[in-house]
Amino acid sequence: MNELDALVDSARQGFEQAATPADLENAKAVFLGKSGRITELMKGLASLSIDEKKARGAVINQAKQAIEAALNARRQALADAELDAQLKAEALDVSLPGRQAGQGGLHPVSLTLERIEGIFGSMGFDVAQGPEIESDWFNFTALNTPEDHPARSMHDTFYVEGGSDKAPNLLRTHTSPMQIRHAVQHVNRHRALLDAGETMPEIRVIAPGRTYRVDSDATHSPMFHQCEGLWIGANVSFKDLKVVFTDFCRTFFESDDLVLRFRPSFFPFTEPSAEIDIQFQSGPLAGRWLEVAGSGQVHPNVVRNMGLDPEKYIGFAFGMGPDRLTMLRYGVNDLRLFFDGDIRFLSQFQ
Ligand code: PHE
Repeated sequence: MNELDALVDSARQGFEQAATPADLENAKAVFLGKSGRITELMKGLASLSIDEKKARGAVINQAKQAIEAALNARRQALADAELDAQLKAEALDVSLPGRQAGQGGLHPVSLTLERIEGIFGSMGFDVAQGPEIESDWFNFTALNTPEDHPARSMHDTFYVEGGSDKAPNLLRTHTSPMQIRHAVQHVNRHRALLDAGETMPEIRVIAPGRTYRVDSDATHSPMFHQCEGLWIGANVSFKDLKVVFTDFCRTFFESDDLVLRFRPSFFPFTEPSAEIDIQFQSGPLAGRWLEVAGSGQVHPNVVRNMGLDPEKYIGFAFGMGPDRLTMLRYGVNDLRLFFDGDIRFLSQFQ
């Protein structure tokens, strides 16, 4: 092998060993740089005759071209390798299923509230909302439960600071304050009729919402839901309560195979009062009496606090527990599951 072939060979090896473009540029300098091997050889031509220059120059040029070709080949190889690595690193498996946006849904208790509103709506009931921070007056006093009344101790109340007589000072323990709030609004709206001695349109309303008591176990949560119902008119009786509530329960549970029991009870704001129990005649809950609501004929003192004459207006009220209804409907046995916010539980209701 002559000297130039050996030079080309060693250039090829040098380029081959270069693992990065920077290494390759260094290797190139050794052969093609300003004081590289080829450049040195060219400088040596100066001392030769014209003919020798021509012959020798041609051979050196060939070697130079071979080295340049090797250099370009290696450059391309390194660039290809880099692109390959990049493609591999950024590989996309287009056969994978796409990522979908998580779909939200309503909370099971919200689903129940929607059902309740729909059913009572179809019976001509309005839906009213009221404050969760309530005053002593609306939560107790106006509901025939004066300050020293022992029934107040049945409600383990969260009192808040400040407040006076009618100013907010507690978290409402039930939705019953909405009986007064809504009735007073209704009465004010029909003031002219009443003043003229005429009969006002009936009050027919439900008031769903959050309520609070100092209570916590598998069937009690310090925050829970209630839905109040109120129907007041010139001639509304306990019989109407029975019809309305029976209809509601059968529609809610989608079963006519269900009976109701009105069990005598006590509430200061109703007289007489009754707990409403239901019993399924078939299915997993068959045979057990399940308490679903408190109810009664609205007490004359409460009718008076609504701004109405109890000799002329009468009616009934009830308060039920949507959380309990949700548990019964879906077969959930621990109330706390509703308020833990565990997606694995909640997503089962979508
Ligand atoms: N407010 C009562 C309770 O929370 C329920 C009730 C409402 C009873 C309306 C009678 C009439 O227990």
